[in-house]
Amino acid sequence: MSQTNGIPFIDLVAPHVELEEELVAVVKKALRTAGFVGGPMVEEFEREFAKFCDVPYCVGVSSGTDALRFALIAAGVKPGDTVITVPNTFIATTEAISQAGARPVFVDIDPRTYNLDPASLLRYLETSCDVDRVTGKLITRKTKSPVTAVVPVHLYGQMVAMDSICEVAEHYGMIVIEDACQAHGSEYFSAKENRWRKAGSIGDAAAFSFYPGKNLGACGEGGAVTTRDEQTARKLRMLRDHGQAQKYYHDVEGYNGRLDSVQAGMLAVKLRRLSTWNAQRREIAARYNELFGSLRDGLATPYEPDWARSNYHLYVIQVRKRDELRAFLSQAHVGTGIHYPIPLHLQKAYEDLGYTVGSFPVAEKVAEEILSLPMYPQLGHEDQRYVAAKACEFVEATSDQAAAMRS
Ligand SMILES: Cc1ncc(COP(=O)(O)O)c(C=O)c1O
Repeated sequence: MSQTNGIPFIDLVAPHVELEEELVAVVKKALRTAGFVGGPMVEEFEREFAKFCDVPYCVGVSSGTDALRFALIAAGVKPGDTVITVPNTFIATTEAISQAGARPVFVDIDPRTYNLDPASLLRYLETSCDVDRVTGKLITRKTKSPVTAVVPVHLYGQMVAMDSICEVAEHYGMIVIEDACQAHGSEYFSAKENRWRKAGSIGDAAAFSFYPGKNLGACGEGGAVTTRDEQTARKLRMLRDHGQAQKYYHDVEGYNGRLDSVQAGMLAVKLRRLSTWNAQRREIAARYNELFGSLRDGLATPYEPDWARSNYHLYVIQVRKRDELRAFLSQAHVGTGIHYPIPLHLQKAYEDLGYTVGSFPVAEKVAEEILSLPMYPQLGHEDQRYVAAKACEFVEATSDQAAAMRS
C-alpha cells in the first residue's frame, strides 16, 4: 500500500517509467536526425490527433495558451472585440482573449456541471447587448464593443452543453472556440445531430493543452488547435510560425509558437494509450461515486449528464467545509487540489473589468466548496478506498446531524 508514503494528487512518474523505452527512442530519433522543430514527428502527431478528435485538421503549437490565442485570432476575433467565457477556469482562457486584443466578459456557470450555463449566456446577450443600427453587429451596452466570440471551457474534462451554445452563437453570429485544454477524448451527445461528438470537433476551432499533468501530457510544454476549416488551419500554421507559409515570406506578423519534435514524438507514443487511460479514469470515477454513495448529504459527487462522457481529467467533489476537509486529508497524507480557488472576476489581474463579489454567485459559491481528489489511471483500488474512507470519515463527523447529536 502506498498510503504509508502518502497518496499523491497526481502521479506523473508511473506512466513515464512504464513508457521509458519508447520515450527515450523518440529523443534518440530527434538527436540522430537533428529534427528538433517541425518535421515528420510533428506532422505525424498532428495527423493522429486530428483523427482522434474526429476533425480534418490539427495544428501543433507550443502550449494550450498559445492554442487558444491562435484559435481566436485565426477564427476572426479582432482587437477591441468582446469575448464571453466563464469565471471558473484557469486564467489562460482569459489571458488568451486579452492577448488576442479582445476584452473578456464573464457569464455564470451551471451549479451542477460547473460549466458555462447556456441560460446565463443568453441572458447576458439579451439584457446587456444591443444590435448596432449601423453595422448590424451585436455590441455590449457598456463598452459598445462587438461581441464576436464565446469560449466554452470543457472544465475537468466534461463538455459544455454544446447544442445550446452553438444555437445561441449561430443566432447572434458569434464564433465558438472550445477550450478543450482539459478535455482530450471527452464526448458530448448532440441531440440535434443524434450522435456523439468529440471535444474539439464542434466549435469553429478548439484549443488543447499538453501540459504534463493533462490526460495527454507532453514531457514539457505543448498544445494544439483542432478545426474543421481549411482556411483556419492555414492561418494557424502561419500564426505559429512568424506569419510565414514559405520561409522568410511573412504575410502577417505571427508568433514563435511551434510544437517541438521531441514533444510531438512523445505525445504520439502517449496518444496510443489515451483511450485506455481515459477508460481507467472513468472506472475510478465510477468507483469513487460508489464509495461516496451512502453519504448523500454533505458531499456532492461530480454530476455527469446523460449527454456527457467526461474524461475525468479531475474528479471534483463539493463539500461545505472544504478547507477543513483538505487539511484533514493532508494530515492523512492524501494530496488534493482546488480548481480554482478564486474565480477570475475576483482576481487582482481583472480589477479593471469592474466585477465585484456577488457578480457571479454560482461561480463564487462553487470556488469555496470544490475539492479535486487524487485521480490518475494508475490509482490503485486500495489507495482509492483509503481516500474515500478518509473523506467519508470527515464528512460524517462534521455533518449537521452529527453536530446536532453531539450538542
Ligand atoms: C482550462 C485551461 N485552459 C487553458 C490552459 C492553458 O494551457 P497551457 O498551460 O498548456 O498553456 C489550461 C492548462 O492548464 C487549462 O486547464
